Amino acid sequence: MEEIPFTRTLIGKEEEEEVLDTLRSTLIGTGVKTEQLEREFAAYQGTTHAVGTNSCTAAMHLSLHALGIGPGDEVITTPITFVSTASSIVYTGATPVFADIEPDTLCIDPACIEAAITERTKAILPVHLYGQPCDMDRILDIARRHNLKVVSDCAHAIEAEYRGRKVGSLGDTACYSFYATKNMTTGNGGMLVTDDDNLTQLIQSQRDHGMALGAWTRYQTGEFQEYPMVQLGFKYIMWDIPASIGLHQLRRIEQRHRKRLEVAARYDEALKSLADHVELIKTHENIRHAHHLYVIKLRGVSRNRVAAGMEKRGIGVGIHFRPVHLEPYYREKHGHTPGECPVAEDAGARVLSLPFWPEITEAEILRVVETLGDVIIECRDS
Ligand SMILES: Cc1ncc(COP(=O)(O)O)c(C=O)c1O
Repeated sequence: MEEIPFTRTLIGKEEEEEVLDTLRSTLIGTGVKTEQLEREFAAYQGTTHAVGTNSCTAAMHLSLHALGIGPGDEVITTPITFVSTASSIVYTGATPVFADIEPDTLCIDPACIEAAITERTKAILPVHLYGQPCDMDRILDIARRHNLKVVSDCAHAIEAEYRGRKVGSLGDTACYSFYATKNMTTGNGGMLVTDDDNLTQLIQSQRDHGMALGAWTRYQTGEFQEYPMVQLGFKYIMWDIPASIGLHQLRRIEQRHRKRLEVAARYDEALKSLADHVELIKTHENIRHAHHLYVIKLRGVSRNRVAAGMEKRGIGVGIHFRPVHLEPYYREKHGHTPGECPVAEDAGARVLSLPFWPEITEAEILRVVETLGDVIIECRDS
C-alpha cells in the first residue's frame, strides 16, 4: 500500500513562473519581490510593517536584540516548542526561563508566566502552538503590569486570530516561519511584523549587516551612495527567489485554511472511536486556529512505540515537541532537571502529530485513524 507522508508541500505553476521571472531579472538578491511580499504580508496581518528575514529564528533574534535584550536579562517562554525559540533568547546573551503549559491546550500558562517573573525579566516569548493563539488577554495584561516586551513566535500561526484580530498584530513584534513544512513556505524564510516605526528601522538595518541603507535602497536610487555600517548587524535578510515563491503561497493561504479546518474536524470526529487512548487538544474561545499541525495526546500506551508502529506501516508521524529544557544542551549548560515543568514533561512524552495537509483525502484520514487503532491495540497488548 502507498505510504502516507507526514505532510505535503503544494507549489503551483504561479510559483514556478514567478521564480523564473526573478531569475531572468537583473537582480536576484533582495529587491522588488521581497518588498512586495513584505507589503502583502503586512496587509494580511493588519500591521504597519513587515520585515523579510531568512528564518523565523532570525526574526526572533532580531526582535529581542533590537528591543535591547541582552546579557543578564531573562525572557520567559514555553518548553513545548521547537528548540530555536529558546535559542533566539540565548543568542542575545539573555537566559530563557521556561514556564509550564496549560494541560488541555498545551499553550504557555499565564499563571506560570507570572510566577516566573523576577527583577531580571525583560520579555515574554509566547508560542502560538500548532496554530492556536495563547491566552493573549492575560499575557498582555501581565506584560503591561510588569513592563515587559512581548515577542510572539507565530511560526505555526500565519492565519491565526485572537478576538477577531490577527494574533501577530498583538505585542511588540511577531515572527513567522516560511520553512518547507509551514502553512506557507519559501523553502527557508521568515517575516517579522510590528507597528513600531523606529523598531522597524533598527531591525531593517540589523538584518543587513548594520548598514545605514539596505542594498536594494542603494541600488534603486541609481546614484552613487556610500553605505556606512552604523551598528553591528547580521546577515538575516530575505531575498527575491524565496519571496517569489512566498507571494503565491500567501495568495493561496485562505483557500487552503478552509480545507485545514475541514481536515481537523474530520480527524476530531474519526478519533472519537479511539477515545480510551487518544486525547484531543482543546482550543481557547474567541480564536481562529491556523491548524498547522494535528496533534493528539496518547494515554495508557507508549508514544514512542506507537510512533514506531505507524512508521513501520508507512504512515508518517511527528513529535511536537519534546520539552526544550530537558534537551541535553539545557541540562548540561543551563542546569535544568526533570520536574521543573511537570505538565510540559507529561505532554512531551505523550504527544503525537498525525499526517496533516489541506489536500489529504478522506480515505487517507480514515486509513491513518484505522492504523492508529491497530497499532494502539498491538502496543497495549504486547
Ligand atoms: C514553534 C517554532 N518556532 C520556530 C521555528 C523556527 O522556524 P525557522 O526554521 O523558520 O527558523 C519553528 C520551525 O519549525 C517552529 O516550529
